[in-house]
Amino acid sequence: MKNHDIVEKNIGLMVVLVVVAISFGGLVEIVPQFYLKETTEPIEGLKPLDAVSLEGRDIYIREGCHVCHTQMVRPLRAEVERYGHYSVAGESVYEHPFLWGSKRTGPDLARVGGRYSDAWHKAHMFNPRNVVPESNMPSFPWLFDNYVDEKITARKMKALRSVGVPYTDADIEGAEKAVKGVTEIDALVTYLQQLGILLKQKR
Ligand code: HEC
Repeated sequence: MKNHDIVEKNIGLMVVLVVVAISFGGLVEIVPQFYLKETTEPIEGLKPLDAVSLEGRDIYIREGCHVCHTQMVRPLRAEVERYGHYSVAGESVYEHPFLWGSKRTGPDLARVGGRYSDAWHKAHMFNPRNVVPESNMPSFPWLFDNYVDEKITARKMKALRSVGVPYTDADIEGAEKAVKGVTEIDALVTYLQQLGILLKQKR
């Protein structure tokens, strides 16, 4: 019997060998990324999110915006023409967890910062049909009544610092004051308005 016949007729052995082959392929593709400057170093000018944007990001996650919106412009001509510069890894080094996503019910938001006014975002979030009549995005009216909980922002920043986000002591000390009295909608819009602006595109 040839060696190959042995593998083909022994499903247990085949499973083991398939796993070994895939793991090896994975290692070769993935591990080098951990050591490439391009994927591990922040792009020029990248700063950790300020306290208000950080809270806005958590509202974005809580409300499931990432379920319908990606934050990942792929390097394809159609995408770059529509959204602007494709996303690069160095933009996401302070993101924990990242929000790239793969499901686009709505448009990609990686470069939405500065595309609309704050007032547009508020009208849209209160009821998307106000500004985009054919929209099927849900309304988020409660964001206008809720306030950010200022007691937990500093703790979030400390947690992020422990995984490498360079928050300073001053950032952490100032967090409570920065977000006190801020409505959830203001925090969310502040977050949206800074998305992707470092690699701004011509539009
Ligand atoms: C059920 C899917 C769905 C969810 C959840 C959702 N959206 Fe949308 N969103 C859409 C669709 C569809 C559009 C396109 C129509 C429109 O502009 O309203 C859109 C459009 C947008 C736009 C305009 C983008 C552009 O470039 O024109 C923004 C900004 C936006 N959404 C933000 C949010 C935020 C923030 C949340 C969470 C609070 C959210 N969306 C939740 C589906 C969704």
